Amino acid sequence: MEKNLREIKEKFEEDLTKSVEELKAPPLLSEALHYAFDGGAKRVRPLVVFCVAEALKNDLEVTKAALSTEYFHTASLIADDMPCMDNDSYRRDRYTLHKAYGETIALLTSYGMITEGFRKIYEAIEDLKKAKKPFSLNAEKVGFLALECATRCSGYLGAVSGQFFDLAPPKRDFETAKTIIDLKTTTLFEAAFFFGWIFGGGSLEKTDKVKELSHHFGLAFQIGDDIKDFEQDRQKKGSLNSAVLLGIEKATSLFQGEMAQFYEKSESLGILSKKIQQIGELLEKSVPLLTC
Ligand code: IPE
Ligand code: IPE
Ligand code: MG
Ligand code: MG
Repeated sequence: MEKNLREIKEKFEEDLTKSVEELKAPPLLSEALHYAFDGGAKRVRPLVVFCVAEALKNDLEVTKAALSTEYFHTASLIADDMPCMDNDSYRRDRYTLHKAYGETIALLTSYGMITEGFRKIYEAIEDLKKAKKPFSLNAEKVGFLALECATRCSGYLGAVSGQFFDLAPPKRDFETAKTIIDLKTTTLFEAAFFFGWIFGGGSLEKTDKVKELSHHFGLAFQIGDDIKDFEQDRQKKGSLNSAVLLGIEKATSLFQGEMAQFYEKSESLGILSKKIQQIGELLEKSVPLLTC
């Protein structure tokens, strides 16, 4: 029987724990990995991978691809919180990794997770090679595409430069904020939608459309997060929070517009399943000022 979103997440939690144990890292690094992954993460990106693949109805196993996205994402959060970046002591209502384990462990965990994210892509390709035909025949091509997407999204062409501009923005206006969102947040959603699509056996001709819809989702996600952080960021001089720059009303309507485009493009690609719709609704419900 098909699992619901909660059941998919529960199974993913088990697989994630197992994946950390399988690394057999030195005890302190292993503890830090568990700590960084725990604490109530929503697992939006892996859920996207599973639900996009499921919507394609090819019945392909995408756990490794889903794990890869959560390794990249969590690595980016650890680095983002460090004193040399946002200098945050709390995430998910408890100490950030460097506060709990020190900067040395946090730095090693962050770049260890990135490398593991890439190794998970390798494992995903190996799984695809063993899948049924015709999907297994495409495994290497899919592997190249996944590698291109992951390197671009997590590196200089994506999250690295996004984080840089976030700390040293060339301008403080919405256009700049949008460019930064595209580089630092949307990229990791692009990887999630793209992995769900290509490891789920989606047509390699249509990947541009998948990237397009992931950008609408990613922009909505960050604007939603900025709306949530509005009060806190409003106090900070020169904040690049998009809701602070645009005002709540405009930010809310932009959020809604991006979500509408996301649904429309998902539908035209044939992946607007009930679960993809639910992921969108969960995002919409999490944004508190939407009705203002
Ligand atoms: C937080 O991402 C970082 C942003 C892109 C705003 P999530 O909201 O997905 O974080 P967790 O993993 O659920 O804590
Ligand atoms: C960090 O962005 C998320 C990344 C994309 C690395 P922010 O600094 O805006 O997010 P939070 O508020 O720390 O989660
Ligand atoms: Mg930041
Ligand atoms: Mg931050």
